[in-house]
Amino acid sequence: MAQYALRRAELRWHVRATPGLVAAALAEEIASQARQALERRGSYSIVLSGGSTPRPLYGILRGLTTDWARWHIYFSDERCVPRDDPRRNDALVRSLWLDHVDIRKQHIHSIPAELGAEAAAAAYAQAVHSVDLFDTTLLGLGEDGHTASLFPNDGRGIEPDAPDALAVRQAPKPPRERVSLSAGRLSSSRSVVMLATGEGKSGAVAALYDKAAIPAAAIVPSVGVDVWLDSAAAAAVRARLPAD
Ligand code: 6PG
Repeated sequence: MAQYALRRAELRWHVRATPGLVAAALAEEIASQARQALERRGSYSIVLSGGSTPRPLYGILRGLTTDWARWHIYFSDERCVPRDDPRRNDALVRSLWLDHVDIRKQHIHSIPAELGAEAAAAAYAQAVHSVDLFDTTLLGLGEDGHTASLFPNDGRGIEPDAPDALAVRQAPKPPRERVSLSAGRLSSSRSVVMLATGEGKSGAVAALYDKAAIPAAAIVPSVGVDVWLDSAAAAAVRARLPAD
């Protein structure tokens, strides 16, 4: 069993009754982080998760009033399928959000996964090299405790000396060939939020709470992790959480 990061992040819990209420509250939080970054540093960078959970959130962010020209979009991971394949994480985000706002095309830093996992990982490591800290890292949580494309029983992306981006070849969640940012790179952020909704995620949430050796526990930013859940995903831990 791979040894996951011995250090554990401080976890802060945010629970709302439904996925829609979680999305609305998290969108407000992201909007606030963007305002602060734009005021303090003149730009805002966010790493976006793939998967279906963030769909409501992306739909709400599309309606945000902000200076889109100063936003920079990165991706936590990507599937190695052609650019316009609907299974691509960037394709989902573009269709729900980015294609409908005035964000600069050159500020959407897609993972070139169509190049194949190794070449894309090398290219993306270069692309993120100049970013000391992301402003926000948004991550999902798989039922097996994976996050981005860092899966159990594959410790390559969670070791402290892992490269910023890595090729993933035998992902248990199809497509099997992917590119993922490493746990360390994903943790290099001013804010890390992990989003999970639905009862199917309650076991992984409990594992995270109990500091089990799951890949999501290898995300250990110095600022801690804000975990955003609906009541169903929080069911197994709700009684142990501090009052909201
Ligand atoms: C991916 C995602 C992956 C996702 C989790 C949760 O490429 O599939 O990056 O890490 O966030 O698997 O997926 P759902 O939100 O669809 O449950």
